Amino acid sequence: MRVIGLISGTSIDGIDAALVEISGSTADLQVELLSGQTMPYPTDLRQQILAVCGGAPLSIAALAELDDAIARQFANAAIALQQKFLDIELIGSHGQTVFHRPPATASLGYSLQLGRGDLITQLTGIRTVSNFRAADIAAGGHGAPLVPKIDAYLLGHPQKTVCMQNIGGIGNVTYLPARMGDRWEQQVLGWDTGPGNSLMDLAVNYLSDGRKIYDESGSWAATGTPATALTQQWLQQPYFQQVPPKSTGRELFGADYMQQCLRDCEANGITRPADILATLTELTAVSIAHSYQTFLPQLPDYVLLGGGGSKNAYLKQRIQHHLLATPVLTTDEVGLNADFKEAIAFAVLAYWRIHNIPGNLPSVTGAKREVLMGEVYDS
Ligand SMILES: Nc1ncnc2c1ncn2[C@@H]1O[C@H](COP(=O)(O)OP(=O)(O)O)[C@@H](O)[C@H]1O
Ligand SMILES: [Mg+2]
Repeated sequence: MRVIGLISGTSIDGIDAALVEISGSTADLQVELLSGQTMPYPTDLRQQILAVCGGAPLSIAALAELDDAIARQFANAAIALQQKFLDIELIGSHGQTVFHRPPATASLGYSLQLGRGDLITQLTGIRTVSNFRAADIAAGGHGAPLVPKIDAYLLGHPQKTVCMQNIGGIGNVTYLPARMGDRWEQQVLGWDTGPGNSLMDLAVNYLSDGRKIYDESGSWAATGTPATALTQQWLQQPYFQQVPPKSTGRELFGADYMQQCLRDCEANGITRPADILATLTELTAVSIAHSYQTFLPQLPDYVLLGGGGSKNAYLKQRIQHHLLATPVLTTDEVGLNADFKEAIAFAVLAYWRIHNIPGNLPSVTGAKREVLMGEVYDS
């Protein structure tokens, strides 16, 4: 079946659209990427989303307008693929997260994605599955991360243990034990490790007076020296010490957090932009390594990096430095496109939804049970 997966992550850089040919179900799942493209947000829409994510107030009417403006962008990304390929039967659209609150002792989680599926189906004429996180949250879970079950079936190795580390705005890991025995799937773990690119992107924008939005290949940070005493101090913060399941977002690792990092840098005499950037890059690297060393049953045989942060060569080098002998590769190196892995995952989740196959892993999200994820809309 030909399915389009759509997602814009917490970097809010643009919509990744992947057209995939999917067959099989879980153990025999086969996915072939036919085409992928990223459609950047128009600057004003991106600024508006960033402001809303940063807590800017919004009337309900303005919220509805923003929801539809995002849905139109998502639909356009799908239409661009529709113009080139026939027989597309389904869309799985994650939408744009604008608010994520993990569950707590006295409250259910809350996660809001804009870009409503009902409008996407209207504009494309294609059956659309969206709002993937709600069912897992209703079952007491975080509604995140949702990609681990797909990682398990696409990247699990028969003898080796693997960590799939996605580095979007936020970092998230899927730990895959060697793929053997009946209970293998229940032993998959996953959680948000903390910041991915979010703090680095915010700092680059600030330090370049708005001229740059990210550190291409990490080349700016690479000219600096990380303040490792400071990153060790930051690692003591509650999120990094919290035992999984756990999830986070720009609500924590956003502009306010970055400003506090800048103040901490200044208080420690770190004032060169390259050193500040190297220190923020180091926080992403050490938070990943610390997460593995603290919360995994064993270190993996190898690590795969995906998402935009996998193109940051300096970050990759620092992760490798902290993981010592564990090889750190990118998913591209094992044949899975690092740019479109998340979009591919939402295509698979939509496909599973209409085939009545649960998409969450309770061992990852903390939900009480497996659930069918996503709401199905027909035009
Ligand atoms: N060539 C590159 N060098 C360094 N960083 C990059 C590069 N390309 C993308 N990125 C980083 O990846 C981010 C986008 O990654 P993505 O996986 O789309 O994240 P998200 O899922 O949060 O949208 C950008 O904001 C940027 O920080
Ligand atoms: Mg993105």
